[in-house]
Amino acid sequence: MTELQEKIAKRRTFAIISHPDAGKTTLTEKLLLYGGAIHLAGSVKARKANKHAVSDWMEIEKQRGISVTSSVLQFDYDGYRVNILDTPGHQDFSEDTYRTLMAADSAVMLIDAAKGVEPQTKKLFWVAHRRHLPIFTFVNKLDRYGRNPFDLMDEIEKLLNIRAFPIDWPIGIDGHYQGVYNRLAKTIELFEEDGSHGSKKLQSTTGTLDDPKIKEMLGEELYQNLCNDIELLDMAGDEFNMDLVTKGELTPMFFGSAMTNFGVEGFLKKFLELSPEPQPRELLDGNIIEPENESFSAFVFKIQANMNPAHRDRISFMRICSGIFDKGMTVYHTQSGKPVKLAQPQQFMAQERTIVERAYPGDIIGVFDPGIFGIGDSLSNEKLKVQFEEFPVFPPEIFARVQPKDSLKRKQFEKGILQLSQEGAIQVFHQEGMGMESFIVGVVGELQLEVLEYRLENEYNAQLVMTRLPYGVARWVYTDKLETLDHLKGMDNAMLVLDKKERPVILVNNEWALNWVVERNPGIELTIVPNDVARV
Ligand code: G4P
Repeated sequence: MTELQEKIAKRRTFAIISHPDAGKTTLTEKLLLYGGAIHLAGSVKARKANKHAVSDWMEIEKQRGISVTSSVLQFDYDGYRVNILDTPGHQDFSEDTYRTLMAADSAVMLIDAAKGVEPQTKKLFWVAHRRHLPIFTFVNKLDRYGRNPFDLMDEIEKLLNIRAFPIDWPIGIDGHYQGVYNRLAKTIELFEEDGSHGSKKLQSTTGTLDDPKIKEMLGEELYQNLCNDIELLDMAGDEFNMDLVTKGELTPMFFGSAMTNFGVEGFLKKFLELSPEPQPRELLDGNIIEPENESFSAFVFKIQANMNPAHRDRISFMRICSGIFDKGMTVYHTQSGKPVKLAQPQQFMAQERTIVERAYPGDIIGVFDPGIFGIGDSLSNEKLKVQFEEFPVFPPEIFARVQPKDSLKRKQFEKGILQLSQEGAIQVFHQEGMGMESFIVGVVGELQLEVLEYRLENEYNAQLVMTRLPYGVARWVYTDKLETLDHLKGMDNAMLVLDKKERPVILVNNEWALNWVVERNPGIELTIVPNDVARV
């Protein structure tokens, strides 16, 4: 095996998807604890103060107590290099989650045992499913009252339309959670409560179902219940089929408690064993790039500006797709057609940033970005000059006209708007002939507008005047007859604007108005996204 093949085989890059409060922050922290990246998981009190210290950077997140942007964390466990892509739980930032999932090879779906599949779980599940990512399920908070595990299994299968195979089955529910039965290894692991409230790694005892010691530790009732459950699962449940897991059609299920650490390490081990190593990636021309290709390639999936207010820096996060990255490397940037030196490459271990000397496929590195990179940009070795498939654009649903409050601050205002649109925080449109004087911003979630206002003021020192527009639907317009566009411009209940690549886009109030436009303008073609992927 070459160095590259060895490193690829031991890398895992995944995202945790969940509804807010299911325990993503806690689980991430516990994975870091097992990975040795942090030594003592915060006590409940310390955690409150530090709740966002590990993975959240922006001031606004602290204020709001929600994870607005995604971050990347890395740790080593059992010879594996693990990259966790954190995703914002709030639905207004699902666009950011979508882009983050582009960089993942698998997803962990985290579910609160008392609440089951919640709205945001469902939404994020579909995003991951559409990418055919293998999805692993961790049912959390087993330390307290939860729904029956059979019910939860059923709910996942019905609501998400995916088969579920519990690998670990909980022993003792409703606050009496004592351990798990592993259905593949046919072993029982009983956890030992150590009074540390989950701040330390857990001790456990392992044995088989017919081990008298285990039987005694469990007691007659729990033992019988477990035997009945196993029989029922084996009779009525699906077979374990790794092929279906890889295709994202069967989700392996685990039960545990991130708070007490019960079930966390067993899950981590099995997840690392079963989840895919860095996968081949598709290029725009339909070709595939294999991770083992010796030539370096990567794409930008996230841009984070001003992570450190003292430095006003901008960092582009890229996922390495093939070859080896070496510090100080100069690569070809497909979108500008120019060579770029990747400066100050960094990786993120818990709170610390470290300089990267070498990185491999599956790894995420953040590089200093002088303002040249955009979301979805491709970087590669001069020999390759690849362009990866385009990132999907979410059609915006909320629109506002924005202007600087103080016209003397126009420069800062424009810079802010343009940089935030490069980052993918907003989409920007303008009306023909009006140039940059009046921007129209489009977003998917309400909160994005608040973030825009906050960031322009705090990072660019420009206050905004924002006027909401009554539109709710945007479509990119394709027509051979240019006069159609003139006609659209004159409509009362619609607005014709241009996107940043000067492509015409029509904004209308609702789907009904959209049909009206289509009926009255034969030959016109409207698309949900600019790259012709999805047609209306
Ligand atoms: P999120 O990132 O998905 O939003 O969830 P987070 O980890 O912040 O957890 C949300 C709440 O659920 C927290 O309680 C956390 O302690 C609790 N929690 C997480 N995992 C478990 C678990 O396995 N069992 C139980 N019983 N609770 C769990 P909080 O009161 O909001 O905050 P805190 O005071 O604990 O910091």
